[in-house]
This record gives sequence, structure tokens and C-alpha cells, in this order.
Amino acid sequence: MTMRVFSGIKPSGDPTFGNYSGGFRQYAATQDIAAAEGGQAFFCIVDLHAITVEYEPAELRRRTLDIAAMLFATGLDPARSIVFVQSHVEAHAEAAWLLSAVTSYGQLGRMTQFKEKREGQEFVSAALFSYPTLMAGDILLYRTTTVPIGDDQRQHLELARDIAARFNARFGDTFVLPEGVFPEVGARIMDLQDPGDKMGKTGSSEAGTIRMLDAPDVIRRKVRSAVTDSGRDVVRSPEKPGVTNLIEILSVATGEPPEAVESRYDGQGYGPFKQDVAEALVELLVPIQARYEELRADETELHRLLAIGAEKARGEAAPVLETMYERMGFARPQ
Ligand code: AMP
Ligand code: TRP
Repeated sequence: MTMRVFSGIKPSGDPTFGNYSGGFRQYAATQDIAAAEGGQAFFCIVDLHAITVEYEPAELRRRTLDIAAMLFATGLDPARSIVFVQSHVEAHAEAAWLLSAVTSYGQLGRMTQFKEKREGQEFVSAALFSYPTLMAGDILLYRTTTVPIGDDQRQHLELARDIAARFNARFGDTFVLPEGVFPEVGARIMDLQDPGDKMGKTGSSEAGTIRMLDAPDVIRRKVRSAVTDSGRDVVRSPEKPGVTNLIEILSVATGEPPEAVESRYDGQGYGPFKQDVAEALVELLVPIQARYEELRADETELHRLLAIGAEKARGEAAPVLETMYERMGFARPQ
């Protein structure tokens, strides 16, 4: 089976180093593997997913282009990958409705992300509840084999597989069951101030969140004030979540295995270690920021690239959606 990669990222909040670790760097890597194997890779700015919680319409528009520029700045190549905006391909919304017929209501209610996001909210949208069905449609419409994601999406991917399997059992073999690809190191980057919490575009503390576009001095300050523990040991351990997180961050930023990081800094205390973490982040992010600024400045070009992506994506999704309608017994227009 040829490799077909699909992943999505929401245009909500400013992208973080967590997105880099579980998202951007994996997208670029899987794009290369897919190209080498004669496969195809799709990367989608999932704006339909971004409306499931409170948001500003004008910000959604701006952030959609921000994410497009960041995807290209971190290595996606429009000549090799299909990069597009979810709402430009109508099949996504349609597929989500069709798949909701084979999605378990009980299972949706057990999704951790739904339970977390609804907490303390005055208004919880039906869209927040059915969000994983839309995500399943994204993946299944492209006959995806491979889904590069961070650890927080593991449960949603499992559900997408269940939905695919239920559709296949009920309406005949239609979908490939997609496999998740999770980074070995850095699948869940934590908030620097509260290492029990995920570093997220929204929800984590500002001081504990490294943003892709943070200035070098902001990065240095955030890393310097990161919560560690008493002691001098630079080792990964459940008792040292803050230090463990910094080791993973350094490893992701430099590509050096975490074991090598541990043996180099062990017993030296946290001062020099933290300084090196900060400098590694600065070294990684400054060139990305420069590419980003250049790409983001040309909105006409971004729109042009996204239009090409959408055109190709429509061509790939349409026949799959048609098969879904047919298998489900709809009298299609002749
Ligand atoms: P989102 O920002 O929720 O649209 O996520 C886009 C991608 O980034 C998904 O594959 C997430 O799993 C990944 N991601 C988000 N936050 C983190 C994090 N703290 N650590 C690792 N991966 C993350
Ligand atoms: N739900 C994912 C997130 O919050 C984003 C997403 C939407 C996605 N559709 C997808 C990821 C399809 C992978 C494949 O990060």
C-alpha cells in the first residue's frame, strides 16, 4: 500500500514549541518519507475545528494565513505536499455528517479533550462534542495510512479507526484503518511553569509556553524561570517532570538523544543546562521566524498556494465522498 499522510492543525492561538514537536517537524519528516516512497502527503489547516470553542471571526481569518506561513516556514514544500484549508474542501463537512451515523454517542462523551474543554464553560457547543467525527472525516477522505500527531491526539485517532471499522462493517470495505505516528521524544511537551499540564496554543500559562514567534529574550526569560526541582540531577524521571520536560525540549531542538543530554549535564546543576536549552531554542527558532516573516508578508502568494492545495485536495476527496454516499444507499443525482 502506498503511504498516504494526513495531518491537521487548528488556526487558533499562536503556535507553540509543542506544535513544533508533535506537529511541524513531523510533518516535514513524513513529507520526505512519503515523497521517497512515491506516496502523497496532505496537511490541512483545520478551520472548521477552530469554531468549536469561543473565537473571534477576524482572528480566525488572520490565523489561517499565520498557520499556512508557519507550515511552509517549517519545511512543507508546496511542490511535494498538498497544503490546504479545510473549509475550502466542502467534502469535509459532508463526510463528518455521514460519519456521525457510525460514531458512538457514548464514545464521544468519553473523549478526554471534550471533558477538559467543556469544564467551567457556560456554553458548550454541539460542535465541541462531535469534533472527533469531523477529524475522522478529514483522515478517511484521503485514504490515509499515516497520521503524524502528538500524544494528545491518540484517543481521537483511535476513535477515527473505530469509525472507519464500523463503516466498513456496516457498508462494505471502504476505508483503510489509519496508523498514528508519534515522536519518540517530545510527543507531549509540557507547560514550563506547570509541568503537569500540556503546553498548548490556548490553556497553558503564558510564562510556561514557548511560542514559535517568541523573541530570543522572551525565550531566554521563559526557560530561565522554568520550574525545576531541588537537586542537581539532569535525568528524566516521573519525580522530576520539569527537568524531564527540559531534557526533551533540548533533545527535540538539537536532535541529540535525551540519554546524551542526561550524561552531559548530570551533576552540574540546572544553571548551565537551562542556558543551553534556551540557546538551542533560539538557534532553532530564529531562522524559522525569518522565513515565516518573509512568507507571511506575501498574502497573495499564500492564497495562491492554498488555492492550488485546495484544488488538488478536492480532486482526491471527491471520489471517496461519492463512494461513501453510494455505499450508504443514497440515490445520487444521475
Ligand atoms: P493543535 O494545536 O491542537 O491544532 O495541534 C496540532 C498538532 O500539534 C497536533 O498533532 C498535536 O498533537 C500537536 N501538539 C499540540 N501541543 C503539543 C504538545 N504540547 N506536545 C506535543 N505535540 C503537541
Ligand atoms: N484535532 C487535531 C488537534 O487538535 C487537529 C486535527 C483535525 C487533525 N483533523 C485532523 C490531526 C486530522 C490529524 C489528522 O490537534
